[in-house]
Amino acid sequence: MVIRMVDKKKVIDELNAALSMEIAAIVQYSHNSYSIMGPWRDALTGELESFAKDEMSHMEYVSKKIVALGGVPSTKPAAINTPATWRAMLEADLAAENAAINRYKAIIALADELGDVDLKKSIEDITSQEYRHKEALEKFLKEPM
Ligand SMILES: [Fe+2]
Ligand SMILES: [Fe+2]
Repeated sequence: MVIRMVDKKKVIDELNAALSMEIAAIVQYSHNSYSIMGPWRDALTGELESFAKDEMSHMEYVSKKIVALGGVPSTKPAAINTPATWRAMLEADLAAENAAINRYKAIIALADELGDVDLKKSIEDITSQEYRHKEALEKFLKEPM
């Protein structure tokens, strides 16, 4: 039986894919916070600005870790989705959070295989924050009873 060794290149590639999603999230949340108009503007903009700052801190950790592993951090954003209405914006944000959570779960499994305790713990912490973003967006999107 061959014991599967985690390839560092694979971890770097996965982190770079996550990094592109973080860059896109910074732009998308910032854009949303500038653009939302109407009665919900004040309720939403502060929260979305704070999400953009959280994504910035995720971008910083992931970039520094890629360099520590011997890779080159991407500067390319993943797809940025900026629909016209606040509800469609938040739905696009929620879809992006779910995609980020799935990618980070895969990276946590790789970090475990690699035995990189810092990567595993730090990505778990980032993923917890993505869950808080996701849950906040779900509450904003929920219709009042
Ligand atoms: Fe993030
Ligand atoms: Fe997030």
